[in-house]
Amino acid sequence: MRVTYIGHAAVELKTDKHSILIDPFITGNPVAKHKPEDFKPDTIILTHGHGDHLGDAVPISKRTGAPVIAIFELASYCQSQGAKAEGMNLGGPHSFSFGKVQFTPAFHSSSHDGHYLGMPCGVVLTTLENRKIYHAGDTALFGDMAFIGKLGLDLAFIPIGSYYTMGPEEALEAVQLLRPKTIIPIHYNTFPVIQQDAEQFKKRVESKTQTQVIILRPGESREL
Ligand code: NI
Ligand code: MN
Repeated sequence: MRVTYIGHAAVELKTDKHSILIDPFITGNPVAKHKPEDFKPDTIILTHGHGDHLGDAVPISKRTGAPVIAIFELASYCQSQGAKAEGMNLGGPHSFSFGKVQFTPAFHSSSHDGHYLGMPCGVVLTTLENRKIYHAGDTALFGDMAFIGKLGLDLAFIPIGSYYTMGPEEALEAVQLLRPKTIIPIHYNTFPVIQQDAEQFKKRVESKTQTQVIILRPGESREL
């Protein structure tokens, strides 16, 4: 699986047959090296409706026909803007052609342009190759991350920026609850208020846990 860190919370997961985009904030993303046209996803998964996550989801869906998979209210909003959409909710997994999607809680908020867009989420994606990937979305630390960890995570995208989400200290606690094999820190160094030292975070996590921390620069890809 090829993981591309587009920047902020935007990632692409590319398996043998599928491309999955999560939170594709590309246009207006100060750190992004890509353009929305660089991606032809099979699907777009959104954690919540804030502009730095919804991003280019609607225009990419319109251009490619890829459905936006999100919590019901956000999916309905995307559909009202002309996107193809699948509205799920928090709970159990559902199988799609590219793998399984399960929305998990996140402690945050979710709205756009004055529209309330349902609960904010994290998402657990199980690929057809049976890799389990957790994208935490924007969230504070919460104890039920331990339940998500019980799924047996191969990879987790964890926000470390603070201010809007967990900072490095909370993210370290999160890693201890989630116990993923590997994490990629996200949602930092995009804006001045979320400036963090990812190298120092990596050192701390790797000295206190069994988890490997991979730091990707925006635009960088890694085979995992
Ligand atoms: Ni947010
Ligand atoms: Mn955000």
